[in-house]
Amino acid sequence: MRKPFVAGNWKMNKTIAETRDLVSRMSLKLSEISGVEKVLCPPFMSLLAASALLEGSGIGLGAQNMHWEEKGAFTGEVSPAMVKELCGYVILGHSERRAYFNETDEIVNRKLISAQTFDLTPIVCVGETLEQYESKLTREVVSRQTSQSLRDVSPAFAARIVVAYEPVWAIGTGKASNGLEANAVAKDVIRPALAGLFGEETAQAIRVLYGGSVTSSNAAEFFSQPDIDGALVGGASLKIDEFAAITESAAV
Ligand code: 13P
Repeated sequence: MRKPFVAGNWKMNKTIAETRDLVSRMSLKLSEISGVEKVLCPPFMSLLAASALLEGSGIGLGAQNMHWEEKGAFTGEVSPAMVKELCGYVILGHSERRAYFNETDEIVNRKLISAQTFDLTPIVCVGETLEQYESKLTREVVSRQTSQSLRDVSPAFAARIVVAYEPVWAIGTGKASNGLEANAVAKDVIRPALAGLFGEETAQAIRVLYGGSVTSSNAAEFFSQPDIDGALVGGASLKIDEFAAITESAAV
């Protein structure tokens, strides 16, 4: 019922020239894979080059962040209207934004409401830190992040939201969570929080991804879980064969 979804978050990697090279080679491989929604999220500077190369490929393009205001005096920021010119998707509330740029659930929520206004499909990130994980606060933290970041949008738009569960301790560490543990968070924490906001039917329609050290070796373990619908991939999304293999293993 929920279409699998795999997105590559390139983070602050690849210049425009490097993006052209990687996207043109990667899209050849990804285009052959069907039965999964595929999205690439290069840095802002590379979105224009990537959008030209991805046209007609069936591969979506996403930004890694945006401001919530349509325009104005916000030096250095990128508006949702600008993102919408090139992208169909936007990552919101990534843990690196939360940790290094002080993004709170309230800010993530403003951006989400703006994504609704500008008809962008949001990939909203939630996840506990290592300290919270060790203190057994995962459920409390992820439930609160989900309920507060995703509030006040229409039920129709809510069904389009993609939630990425990314435990901070698993990001870029090579220490992925495991299928059962990640599935338990998706099933027992994220979906009930979504049901509280939008009702059970919509909660069951929303895709929940896992992110954090996903590779071609562990992807299938996550994708075989009933409540995990795909992945948000960091490091491995910069490697053509790795990302293609991960995408392939999510396809139905
Ligand atoms: P890694 O796959 O490099 O651990 O990054 C995950 C992530 O943060 C994706 O948004």
